[in-house]
Amino acid sequence: MNDKINCLIDRINRSLSDSVKEKPGLIDTVIKAEEYSLTAGGKRIRPVLALLFCEACGKKSDDYVNVAASVEMIHTFSLIHDDLPCMDNDDFRRGKPSCHKKFGEAQALLAGDSLVFLAFETVCREAEKKVIDANTCTDIISLLSTASGAYGMIGGQVIDIESENTKIPVGVLKELQRKKTGALISAACEMGCILAGAYDKLEYARKFADNLGLAFQITDDILDVEGSFESLGKPIGSDQKNQKTTFVSVYGIDKAKALAKDLTEMAVKCLEAFEDTDCLKALTNELLTRKK
Ligand code: IPE
Ligand code: IPE
Ligand code: MG
Ligand code: MG
Ligand code: MG
Repeated sequence: MNDKINCLIDRINRSLSDSVKEKPGLIDTVIKAEEYSLTAGGKRIRPVLALLFCEACGKKSDDYVNVAASVEMIHTFSLIHDDLPCMDNDDFRRGKPSCHKKFGEAQALLAGDSLVFLAFETVCREAEKKVIDANTCTDIISLLSTASGAYGMIGGQVIDIESENTKIPVGVLKELQRKKTGALISAACEMGCILAGAYDKLEYARKFADNLGLAFQITDDILDVEGSFESLGKPIGSDQKNQKTTFVSVYGIDKAKALAKDLTEMAVKCLEAFEDTDCLKALTNELLTRKK
């Protein structure tokens, strides 16, 4: 990642650590579990996208790091729950034992739940501090809840689970990936436009994210086959273990790679609607060749 993106990641990491600093005695287990997963690393691409889109709409993003961190809280919740034995049953995440391996299933479930509410609380706090106004606050909360709920990420996870061991049409596979991964990536990009007050740019951010989100999940599916545990920090072969339907299981590796490349090129093209997109272009291209 380039210096600018690394600098944003540092600021996001600080914001995330601060958000779970207080650990009142009786409830410290769940907050330690939230902190464990939230500060374990991760590429932070969603909050980075939010901040870069704000800038690509012509507004400085310096004041919005806490707001952007909210999308990472929701993403981390989705990962904690995704790893649970009743879901993908994976023992490692971000290079460490999964949340439920470290804290037990009940506390991991609760830590995931708490991160959702922490996300919304974080956005509201920024409104209380007048960093964002009340309309921006409601727009962002509406955006995050729609992208995360049954019509977004959670809906995608539903289709993912129900597609185990079955053959589904490619249209359903695309819908699955769009929802489980694309929806939150799109929310991140749209959040940046909303923070900049650039509502006229939302449709272009959605088009970009639709392409990037699909490319990103296809690459995730490829890495599940061709990646290594050491660089990914999560188990490989999880999809085959769970008999998942993915772009790799349907098309094979080579076609999946070609598709991810085409989608990445289309995503980069969608950036023409924005200003100052060097970092966004660099990030989009790097995500295609990522090893983690
Ligand atoms: C993994 O997301 C799960 C998917 C939605 C594909 P990331 O690849 O962004 O995971 P982290 O945040 O870097 O750990
Ligand atoms: C999960 O997709 C997407 C989420 C909503 C968390 P995967 O199950 O493929 O993600 P990984 O590979 O475990 O990170
Ligand atoms: Mg999964
Ligand atoms: Mg998984
Ligand atoms: Mg995966």
